[in-house]
Amino acid sequence: MIDMKQASLDDGMMSTEHEGGESFISYEQSSVLQALPFDPYAAIVGPRPIGWMGTQSKDGVANLSPYSFFNALNHNPPLLGFASIGYKDTIRNIEETGEFTWNLVSREIASQMNQTSVSAPPGVDEFKVVGLAKAPSRLIKAPRVAESPVSLECRLSQVFRLKDSQGKDLDTWFVYGEVVYVHIRKDLLDDGIYNTVRARPVFRGGGLSDYFELVEACRFSMLKPEDYKHV
Ligand SMILES: Cc1cc2nc3c(=O)[nH]c(=O)nc-3n(C[C@H](O)[C@H](O)[C@H](O)COP(=O)(O)O)c2cc1C
Repeated sequence: MIDMKQASLDDGMMSTEHEGGESFISYEQSSVLQALPFDPYAAIVGPRPIGWMGTQSKDGVANLSPYSFFNALNHNPPLLGFASIGYKDTIRNIEETGEFTWNLVSREIASQMNQTSVSAPPGVDEFKVVGLAKAPSRLIKAPRVAESPVSLECRLSQVFRLKDSQGKDLDTWFVYGEVVYVHIRKDLLDDGIYNTVRARPVFRGGGLSDYFELVEACRFSMLKPEDYKHV
């Protein structure tokens, strides 16, 4: 274990002190591994929803892979997007075909989701590798996961390369698209209202192996402020 006080004296980049006294550890992000044994960034900004993306190559080979640098980006129209660290098969398929599905990872199929992250060669269909069935989409050709309780069919909006704060191109590609068709298992609806917990969605935590399942005990309510303007 690193001696924090000694380390902070050595390079002047980090400190165990803060305006409030010794209750914070503070460091430059570029020196995180001198401050801590493991970068906590993904554990702090988390748990994150998982973008389990179904695509099809231009030659018709199906692909299924998880992306947790993922989120919903807009409400109307609904947009969702994710970052591919490296130009991976999913990004290539989406650029070539202009479409993808998002599939909810429920607790029951979390293990198969994890298995679909194997780095399979482009011609390999991960649905087959992990033993999941494909369900046809309605408006697009990309398949969805038959075992997933919710799937969203999406059409590509934009793909672009991310930059760091100095404007340098990164080997990270951001893609987002518009939700154009929705499939929800009927037992998740109570009089037409979607029950988020009943789907048992799984989220990515930090570290090598942390995941979280949503349970009812986590729920609390908060009304919007009175002068809140709905967008
Ligand atoms: C839960 C989970 C989340 C992941 N999130 C990302 C991510 O946000 N970005 C990324 O580039 N890779 C991510 N990966 C790794 C990809 O799934 C992996 O590289 C996969 O082989 C990519 O497949 P593809 O080349 O068929 O698209 C994640 C893996 C797991 C298990």
